[in-house]
Amino acid sequence: MANIRLVNLSKSYTTGTKAVENVSLEIGDREFMVLVGPSGCGKSTILRMIAGLEETSTGDIWINDRKVNDVPAKDRNIAMVFQNYALYPHMSVYENMAFGLKLRGYPKPEIVKRVHEAADILSIKQYLERRPRELSGGERQRVALGRAIVRKPLVFLFDEPLSNLDAKMRVQMRTEIHKLRMKLQTTFVYVTHDQTEAMTMGDRIVVMNKGLVQQCADPMTIYDKPANKFVASFIGSPPINFMEGRVVRPAQARKYFFDEGNFQVKIIDEMVPKMAPYEGKKVHMGIRAEDIYDKLFASEASPENTVKAICEVVEPLGSEVYLYLNSGKHSFIARVGAHDRPEVNRDMDLVFDMSKVHFFDCETQETII
Ligand SMILES: Nc1ncnc2c1ncn2[C@@H]1O[C@H](COP(=O)(O)OP(=O)(O)OP(=O)(O)O)[C@@H](O)[C@H]1O
Ligand SMILES: [Mg+2]
Repeated sequence: MANIRLVNLSKSYTTGTKAVENVSLEIGDREFMVLVGPSGCGKSTILRMIAGLEETSTGDIWINDRKVNDVPAKDRNIAMVFQNYALYPHMSVYENMAFGLKLRGYPKPEIVKRVHEAADILSIKQYLERRPRELSGGERQRVALGRAIVRKPLVFLFDEPLSNLDAKMRVQMRTEIHKLRMKLQTTFVYVTHDQTEAMTMGDRIVVMNKGLVQQCADPMTIYDKPANKFVASFIGSPPINFMEGRVVRPAQARKYFFDEGNFQVKIIDEMVPKMAPYEGKKVHMGIRAEDIYDKLFASEASPENTVKAICEVVEPLGSEVYLYLNSGKHSFIARVGAHDRPEVNRDMDLVFDMSKVHFFDCETQETII
């Protein structure tokens, strides 16, 4: 068993880059933790510090009750799988998987046993005698996983292990890793910049940007209650729609509206306590594509949640349809039912589910509600 604790972890490179800033995280025993964020946000640096391949600038790394800052990589009992599987081309699959154990002086019968066990788990028994070049990308990636599994490490660190695979293979390997995780019952830290991988695989997700943790929570909390505008924009496909507008309250009314300029929608009563202080001020509203409906098919349309926009493009995807809309001020996307085909370049009425919207402070970018 292994839990990992990062305490105020920072890393600055000699170039002056602050790759990681004051990251504190607790990763539980057998947890599958995903680090996600755009390129350069410090994901690999965190992983490499946990593995011991990179020194920390400040802060501590604990594995169980042992502070490992000064423990060399080879003594941390951690296995890392990289994006470029880095298999030895001149060795067979078996030799690739056995190599690390040989180096560590394991007795031969134990090596044979472990390699066969791992090959069994990964369904690559039939390839043991092949060279890496005689395998597909997905099969190679499995060998790379096998090389990590045979070591029976305390922790698996995965750095974008699927990004070299084509889209179909990625989906397949995603489920493979899911199954693997069930079988191995070990702690995983998994790095990706793919938000779908993060959402589907993680027990919890850490969203990072520019070396800083933006939010750490389970996938649905990240999706439904993003901590700030960055998290809202990074998670979700198609990306959440943002609109800038003002919070207004018509004279003598007790109602508040979000005034985009070309339309007004009513802020629901439950949100008023948080939104009232913003009266007269600019805010950003975020609404996801699935929370926008064609009025023809909406059950709860009213003038206070209906918006006029021009439908510029209709994109049928089979199971659903994306509408690319324009309010005159903002472009946004709605995700509607498979058979909805509004006319293009015409005004249409759209209903916003105002119970699902998010508001963000324009200055701090933090979520208001
Ligand atoms: N050895 C190094 N020397 C100097 N700067 C580095 C070094 N390694 C990484 N960096 C910088 O640190 C920052 C974080 O890099 P890191 O590799 O951790 O990003 P990442 O989140 O893994 O990105 P990607 O998704 O592209 O792999 C980047 O700005 C990068 O340029
Ligand atoms: Mg990286």
